Formats: sequence, structure tokens, C-alpha cells
Amino acid sequence: MSPRKPRRAVLSVASECVPLIKTGGLADVVGALPKALKELGWQTRVLMPAYPGVADRLRAVTEVWSDPDLFGGPAAVLSGTVGGLRVLALSASHLYDRAGGIYQGQEGDHPDNDLRFAALSWVAARLCAEGTRDGWKPTLLHAHDWQAGLAPAYLRFAESSTPSVMTIHNMAFQGIAPADRLEALRLPRQEFHHSSLEYYGQISALKAGLVHADRITTVSPSYAEELMRPEFGFGLEGVIIERSQALSGIVNGIDTSVWNPAEDAAIPQNYDTAQLGNKQANREALLEEFGLGPTPGPLAIVVSRLSHQKGIDLLVEAVPEFIQLGGSLVLLGAGDADLEHRLRTLADHYPDRVGVRIGYDEPLSHRMFAGGDAVIVPSRFEPCGLTQLYGLRYGTLPVVAATGGLRDTVIDASVAGLAGQAATGIAFSPLDALALGRALARLVALYADPPTWCQIQRRAMMANVGWTLSAEHYAELFDELVASR
Ligand code: ADP
Ligand code: GLC
Repeated sequence: MSPRKPRRAVLSVASECVPLIKTGGLADVVGALPKALKELGWQTRVLMPAYPGVADRLRAVTEVWSDPDLFGGPAAVLSGTVGGLRVLALSASHLYDRAGGIYQGQEGDHPDNDLRFAALSWVAARLCAEGTRDGWKPTLLHAHDWQAGLAPAYLRFAESSTPSVMTIHNMAFQGIAPADRLEALRLPRQEFHHSSLEYYGQISALKAGLVHADRITTVSPSYAEELMRPEFGFGLEGVIIERSQALSGIVNGIDTSVWNPAEDAAIPQNYDTAQLGNKQANREALLEEFGLGPTPGPLAIVVSRLSHQKGIDLLVEAVPEFIQLGGSLVLLGAGDADLEHRLRTLADHYPDRVGVRIGYDEPLSHRMFAGGDAVIVPSRFEPCGLTQLYGLRYGTLPVVAATGGLRDTVIDASVAGLAGQAATGIAFSPLDALALGRALARLVALYADPPTWCQIQRRAMMANVGWTLSAEHYAELFDELVASR
């Protein structure tokens, strides 16, 4: 028997975390990874802002750290648990206690976002140095996205011995601040140069993390490669190339206890690979819920932020032909006002075949994955993507752009994919409305061939989309890093 490894402690730093607050897949990852890491000897505490209502949802709360002046006001770290997750909520009313969304108010981005998340990162570095009052001290810091990007930099500037890992969930958001904010953000002026904090004359929190973390990860192997190209690197491709030895791509998993068609309490009829026929009741319920008529072809779903990244404009272009071929579409999403308008217009034009719900609705998203035949993800870039993974798990075949994590998780029903009995969905390229239209036509043809369709559905549902494998990669990386110190 191999000797048991000592339990190791990771401080995971992020701006959102399920089940407390979520605007996208980042929150799912931050909330789910700790459970999987625990099995591998890594115990996590998640440091995040105590936005309004967050601390109330924690159990057994104690104050484990405080500072009378955190970037302009008093702050405390409250330690508590939620559903088995240990959370360190940073309470600082001058930074986090405000109306609106966590990043934006009525007028757009909160003007002091740089300070709000610099403070989070600052506290992360302090906790690495000082530990908490209940005697916990991190072995390693894991920073997620730009909001935690300054944490590895603060560690480096303090000559800390705590190793750090920076994970990129989306390179499009970089936390840019004007150069005159250096002092306010407690950043050393001599670090304002091209090889450290400076990005085209401004400060970039994400770049700071990429330069100063010991290791960098991103959420799929393909995105790790793509980030070295100008089309995907958003100006940081040079930094990525320079640090490519320190970079790895680890694909996200999903929480298979939450996303499980056999036990999902949010869906009308449970099913598994042995009773695929039961999925039909969910389809009928979904058509009815959206007021759509009978659909001879596949019922496609989309659950997405409505932004340029997600390629929803291409979908709007491709839908009329899909409808002509017999398909229907239901979409749930919110975001860009122009896209919302175009989608509403589409639904008005095809009242029997297109249903659109603008808003954010978790239970409805479950009913959609259970009732849809296919989920469409036509993203221009996608670091990982989670909805195609839900699609696999629910036998709702993913139709995806062949990019980033979408490419890594869906096997195309090409001639080779079908002959090798490997296909789990449809992947298309290049990324334009024509290719998406062709992919939807292939979907219609596949749907019209029930034996092949059911075979692919079963294979998709058995794909390994949980966290186990990926958590092992993180644990290995963490172990290596600690051993190298
Ligand atoms: P991103 O983080 O870029 O938005 P992901 O696919 O990684 O993309 O994660 C998006 C997450 O948010 C998924 O869990 C998805 O189901 C969820 N989601 C997105 N839009 C909505 C919505 N309107 N209602 C409910 N859930 C949504
Ligand atoms: C980002 C990416 C998405 C990824 C998620 C979680 O929001 O856009 O592709 O799945 O982070 O890593």
C-alpha cells in the first residue's frame, strides 16, 4: 500500500461560485472542482466576495480574518459552509454591498471593479502569508480569471513561497485599468513594464496573473493551443507563447449529481439509456410549454448568454432553412439587446416552430435539456463550454462549432466517426452561417435515421463528462508544483 499523502490545502479565488452566485460556467467550475479534489487529498476553501445575501446562505459562520482598512474601508473574512463546500466570504460593504449585478449596475460596469477585485486578490495573498484565525493555511493558491489575476502578482511582489496557479476561463475579459490606478491598487510602480503589469499603456490584471503565476491552466487543451494565436489571444498571445512550458489545458467536467436525467427532479419524466423512450414525454412537455406545434424534425434547444462570443447571430441566419427542413427551436438566454430583439422577431415570424424565453432560468434549462433532441452551440470561441456536456449527458445531441472545448468534447458524426462507432454529435467548421446551416441539415438527416440516432444518443449519454479525470489532472499539477518547491 502506498503511504497516504498529507492533506493539502488550496485557496481557490474567484468572483463567483455555485450555489451562491453565478453568471456563467466559471461559477459551476469553482463550485464543483473542490468536491472532486477532496477525494484526491486536496482540501479547498473558496475565497469570494460576500455580495448581498451570500453570507446569509452560509452555515456555521465564523470570522477568521479582518482588516480595518482594505482599500478604503473595513473588511472581514467569514468562513462558513454551503452544501459541503467551505467558503471564505470577503465582507467589505464599501466594495461589494451594492444594488445591481455583481459586475454591473444600471449604468454598465461598476466604475471601481478594478479596486473591488484587486481587494479580493490582495486578501488572497494575505491569507497565504498569515493563514486564518482557525489555524488554516493554504499550501497553494488557485486564481480564476482576471478578477483573481492580481493574486499571483501580489504573492510574487511579497516574495511569498506559496505557489500559484492561474486558470483562464475566458481570455476576452482581462481586467484593464488605467495606469494612474497603480497606487490605488497597491501595485509597485517599478512593475509597470511590458514583462509584468503593463498592457498597451494600461494595467491588465489577467496579464499580471499570467506573468506571475507558477503555472497556467485553461479549460481545454484546444483552447490552450488557440490562445497562442492572435484570433483568440486578445493581445496576450505573446505572453502565452512565452509561458507555454508552464501552460496546460484541462477540460472542465460537470456535476453529474445535479445533471442526471435518471434522477433530475426538475424534469417531467426521468430516463436513462435503458428507457430512452421516456425522453419523449419531456419533448412533448417542452413543445407545449413554449406553445409550439408538432415538429416533424429535430427539436433543437439553445441555453446561452446572448453575446458575440456565442455566435447567436449566425443561428438567427441559419434558422429559416432549418425550419423548412422540419426542425423547431427553443431558446433561453439573456444579454445583448440587439440579439434579444432579433430572436423575438424570429419567434414572432414562426410562432409554431420557434420559442424564445429571454431571462435566466435554471429549472427551465433542465427541462430544455431533457426535452430537446439537440443542443446548438455555435460559438466563435469557447474555452470549454458546459452546455454541450449537459447535452451529452441528457442524450440531447450537441451541434457545435469545432473550436476550443467544444472540439475536445464532441466527436463528429463524420463518416469516420460513425464507422468507428465514436460519434457523439455534430461538429462544424468554419464558423459561419453556411457551415452552421449544413450542420443543421446533417442533424435533420441523422434524426430521420432512428437506429443511428439512438446509437449516438446512448453513446453520448455514456460519455465521461464528470469531474473525476480532470480533477486528477489538477491534483497532479498541484502535487508537482508543491514537490518542486
Ligand atoms: P459561459 O460561461 O461562457 O457563459 P458555459 O457554457 O461554460 O458558458 O456556461 C454557461 C452556464 O450558464 C451553463 O451552466 C448554462 O446552462 C448556464 N446558462 C446560461 N444562460 C442561461 C440562462 N439564460 N438560464 C439558465 N442557465 C443559463
Ligand atoms: C468561461 C467560458 C466557458 C467555460 C467557463 C468555465 O465562461 O466562456 O467556455 O466553460 O468559463 O470554465
